Amino acid sequence: MTTSTDRGMWGSRFAFVLAAAGSAVGLGNIWGFPTQVGRGGGAAFVIVYLFCIVMICAPILVAEIVLGRRSRQSPVGAFKFLSPGTRWWWVGAVGVVTSVGIVAFYSVIGGWTIAYVWFAASGALGGGGEAAGDFFTRFTANGWQNVLCTFIFLGMAAAANAGGVRAGIERVTTALMPALLALLVLLAVRSLTLPGAAEGLAYYMRPDFSQAFNMTIVGAALGQAFFSLSLGNGAMLTYGSYLRRSDGIGRSVLMVVALDTSIALLAGLIIFPAGFSIVGFDPASSGPGLIFAVLPQLFATLAGGTLFGGAFFILLVMAALTSAISLLEVPVAHVVDRWGWSRPKAVGLVAGSAFLLSIPCALGNGAVESLSNLAPAAWGGNFLGVVATICNNFSLPITGMLMCIFVGYVWRVDRAVEELLADNAWFPNPKLWGLLVRYVSPLAIASILLGSIMAVL
Ligand code: PHE
Repeated sequence: MTTSTDRGMWGSRFAFVLAAAGSAVGLGNIWGFPTQVGRGGGAAFVIVYLFCIVMICAPILVAEIVLGRRSRQSPVGAFKFLSPGTRWWWVGAVGVVTSVGIVAFYSVIGGWTIAYVWFAASGALGGGGEAAGDFFTRFTANGWQNVLCTFIFLGMAAAANAGGVRAGIERVTTALMPALLALLVLLAVRSLTLPGAAEGLAYYMRPDFSQAFNMTIVGAALGQAFFSLSLGNGAMLTYGSYLRRSDGIGRSVLMVVALDTSIALLAGLIIFPAGFSIVGFDPASSGPGLIFAVLPQLFATLAGGTLFGGAFFILLVMAALTSAISLLEVPVAHVVDRWGWSRPKAVGLVAGSAFLLSIPCALGNGAVESLSNLAPAAWGGNFLGVVATICNNFSLPITGMLMCIFVGYVWRVDRAVEELLADNAWFPNPKLWGLLVRYVSPLAIASILLGSIMAVL
């Protein structure tokens, strides 16, 4: 096993914030969030999502980082270290496996964004409109192109991870976040000024509360919140394990949550007004192709649309890569920490396994019929959807809930708070945090999971 001094540390608290933000901000915000809002019927989903972020996920993010910083280990080792001789390490192990599942489907969507850099910049998307939806359907039905794009995306993430990316992530994310935010604001302004935008805005901001109690939708909102903040699988725990004790956690968490949430909300502000200005647009039936059908239409209304389109997808690829690197980091750190493998060898094993699982994910979007219609819509429909549903809507919240129980009752809140406040660090309200972790988050997760399981059975 490597000792903590071999594992390396972030150079500063800011470096940690950049890496954590790089992990959180990705396809989950720009592709996942609008897709889920569309499936979930609009504004009611947004409200439930925000509730989950604030009351459930932000406190768990703190817990994960504390577990990592205190133990200086990747997830399995962290539980073994803090609670020796017990079976709590299983929580970490589930996180390791879940990460491989997420990387697998994530890389397929990452592959789509790579292809769209080319499509957008070369003008292949044309004028958008209904044709853009058809274009996406045709593209995802092409098996070998999809497997190839998946391979390229996963290969890039693996290479970056193997190369010991800390400095790289920092540099990429420092430039990426302001550029991404600026472009998103610009696109939102354009979208909001299109004819018919008001209808989309109402859909996005005026909740239909009958939907807020549909448990399938509430379960999806919880899963999306976990996925977007990179929670439950131990990514933030692993990143926290490289954090110095003198670097406070409170401010970092606030910054990461604020940035992640504003980027998701901005993405919705772009997609729905623009979407509703397209004749015959139906957010619910667009599924994973939603942003790929709407954005080309929006780019077509901009002078220099190919340029904006190309730039947008390049930024999205980069945001997705910094997330995929953090996903790989969980199983890779596990193999390095526990088995003593070298990093490149560990990356090879992890990325190789993820690629095998990503092949059916890539082929299940029209290329191979049996993989494309595998399950009822509530379970994700196709192979990619089923993997995503199991990982995001079940695995992440369950491990998140177990982490709360661990911190709240096994390792205990006072130890966690002591770690949080080490070196006179600033933290808003440790008492409230303890209450959220002990009672509110685990109970809320348990009831949402139960409700959503009963709703699909
Ligand atoms: N949060 C990332 C995104 O929104 C995905 C992710 C999930 C990364 C879980 C790490 C762990 O794209």
